[in-house]
Formats: sequence, structure tokens, C-alpha cells
Amino acid sequence: MTTATALRQQQTEFDAGKAQAFAGKLLGALNNSALILMTSIGHRSGLFDALAGVSPCTAVELAAEADLAERYVREWLAVMTTSGVVDYDPKRGTYLLPAEHAAFLTRAGAPNNIAVSAQMVGVASAVEDEILARFKDGKGLHYHHYGRFHEVMGEHSAQAVAMNLIPHILPLVEGSIGLLQKGIDVIDVGCGAGDALLLLAQQFPKSRFTGIDLCDDAFEVAAETAVRKGLTNLVFKEQDVSTVRSLGAFDLVLAFDAVHDQKDPQAMLTTVRHSLREGGVFLMADIDGSSKLENNISHPLGAYLYMMSTMHCTPVSLAQGGAGLGTMWGVELASEMLGRAGFGKVAMTRLPQNPFDAYFVARP
Ligand SMILES: C[S@@+](CC[C@H](N)C(=O)[O-])C[C@H]1O[C@@H](n2cnc3c(N)ncnc32)[C@H](O)[C@@H]1O
Repeated sequence: MTTATALRQQQTEFDAGKAQAFAGKLLGALNNSALILMTSIGHRSGLFDALAGVSPCTAVELAAEADLAERYVREWLAVMTTSGVVDYDPKRGTYLLPAEHAAFLTRAGAPNNIAVSAQMVGVASAVEDEILARFKDGKGLHYHHYGRFHEVMGEHSAQAVAMNLIPHILPLVEGSIGLLQKGIDVIDVGCGAGDALLLLAQQFPKSRFTGIDLCDDAFEVAAETAVRKGLTNLVFKEQDVSTVRSLGAFDLVLAFDAVHDQKDPQAMLTTVRHSLREGGVFLMADIDGSSKLENNISHPLGAYLYMMSTMHCTPVSLAQGGAGLGTMWGVELASEMLGRAGFGKVAMTRLPQNPFDAYFVARP
């Protein structure tokens, strides 16, 4: 078939209804992206928290409550109104944030505050020019390129990990609470902002906790907090896990969303295996997706997770000379790689409290 014939055929088969529906979908996406950017602003400025406290209120009243400039607050409220987040009463000039919406937008709504994750879109957008250049040269970007990444990741984990840790996550490892009460050695690999460890060190004073991370700025605040609170059972160390074959001898190794973006995830899993004492266990939380793109087509967070993979998780691994496994390495490959690292018994669980992750309890 000639190119001209193919083109003609394509034109006659052009489905105008399908095109119209797609244009509508894209325009909806444009609107939703605006909402997410303004959701991040609403979270960081404290506007959602203030609005939940005083609504229904006018823009002037909200601006006074949040101690912000009224002109900007009014414009932000217009976005929230047209997005269906707040109800606007034109007669009174008041805005209402329904309790059902506040539950997912305010700090009081933690661990379900989705506005926390909205900030990641801003973090990713800030490196758009650099990533565009990486599309050409195939190289990566280092953590220090990502501005507020550690801060936002820490905020996400403070609710997704720390708030769920004792009631929901640790019970996945049978008997772990009792062992922590008696006293064991625990390490959190790629600990990031360290909130999980701060909580554990306070809750289980007879156990000893270590947090390691490539970036010391990630755990700086937590390390200061540990000293201030006199937590002598908690240390944070800057360490590149890819440079060692063992991290020491531990009864429990934790890794929360810290395997897929490593330089060499397979080597890291083997290092974890080498760091376990007899009877020790590895508790790993990582992104809940499939290793096959076709299985992720209806994933509720598919586009968001592949976007984070393109903008952050893949480039930080590539920048370390790594594999660039990607955020959506998938639970199939994760199980396979745990097996290759010498974990003979692996159980995977999902928790309704955290839609982002799957949990793996792995023993040699
Ligand atoms: C997605 S963040 C997760 C942080 C933390 N576990 C949490 O739940 O918030 C991944 C972490 O792994 C750390 N990391 C990446 N490569 C590393 C390496 N080679 N050695 C040690 N840590 C590394 C990063 O600095 C980052 O803090």
C-alpha cells in the first residue's frame, strides 16, 4: 500500500466521535492538573486547614484566618469552586469545604491527606527542563536536583508509613511487636526523613535502631529530634548501600519505598540478606504495581506512578550508574529478585490503609 493510499484510508476511518471524546478527556486532564497544583498550594499555605476551621466564610475572612493576601486567596477559592472542591454561595459570597472533602485535604485528615501527595507534582515539574535534556543524553539526575523531594517524601511517609506502622504494618511480621519490646536490632535502609524510626525508638526503648541513607539532608531533622529527645537507641548514618556487602547484623531490616530507585536493587537485596541474623526478617514496602505495562492500564494511580518514575525514580538510579529499574518494577519482579537474593520464604500483602504499596515479609 502506498503512503498516499494509507493516509486516505486513515482519513476515511477517522472516527470523529472518538476524537471528540479524547479531546474532552485531555481538557479534563488539563483542568485536573490545575486542581492538583492548587491543591499543593492549599496544603503548603495552610489554606485547607484554615478553611476547614472557619467555613462557610468569605474570601476576606479566610485570608484573615490564614494570614494570607486576600486577592490570591480569592483566586485560589475560584479554582476550588470550579473544581467542585468547595461549595460557593453567591448570595452571601461564602465558601464551604464539606467535611467529606476536608477529610482528604487537611492535616487533621492524616493518614488520608491526599494533598500531601499533590506536592510531588510540583517537585517533578521543577526539573522539567533537566529531564527534557536527559531524554536526549539518557543520563540521570541526582537527589540534590530535586529541591523539596526529601521533605515531601518524608511528609508522605509520616502518614503512609509511620501512622500505619504499629497498628497495621509491623503485625505483618508475626511476633515482631513482642520481639521489639524485649529488645532487637533494627535497620531502616534508605530511611529518608526517618519518622518511622523516631516512632519506633520511642515506642520500643529496649530495641536499637539504625537509619541509613545516601543523603544526610534527608534525615537531618530526625537526627536532631533524636538527640533532643535523648533517644540513645537511635542512630542515623549517611551511607551508600551499594558500596557494602553487609550492613552489620540485624534481627529486622526495613525498607520503605527504597529498593526500586536504588543504583543496583538486586545487589541491595543481597546485601540485606547478608545483614540478617539467624531468624531475622526483611520487611519491604514498595510500589504496588505489575511488572507488565498491560496489567497496569487500569491501575488507579498508573499515570501518576509512571510519571514519578520518569521524572524521579528512574533518573536517580541512572545518575548513580544504576539499572534505572523504575517505580513500576512490579510485584512479580520484586518477588523474583527477593528469591534471587536468597529469600526462600516471601509473603506479599496489601493493606487498605496505603494504596501506594505492597508489603513483602521475606525470610531466608
Ligand atoms: C523514595 S525514598 C524513601 C525514603 C523513606 N524510606 C520513606 O519511606 O520516606 C528512597 C530513599 O532511598 C535513598 N537512597 C537511594 N539510593 C541510595 C543508596 N545507594 N544508598 C542508601 N540510600 C539510598 C534516598 O536517598 C531516599 O531517601
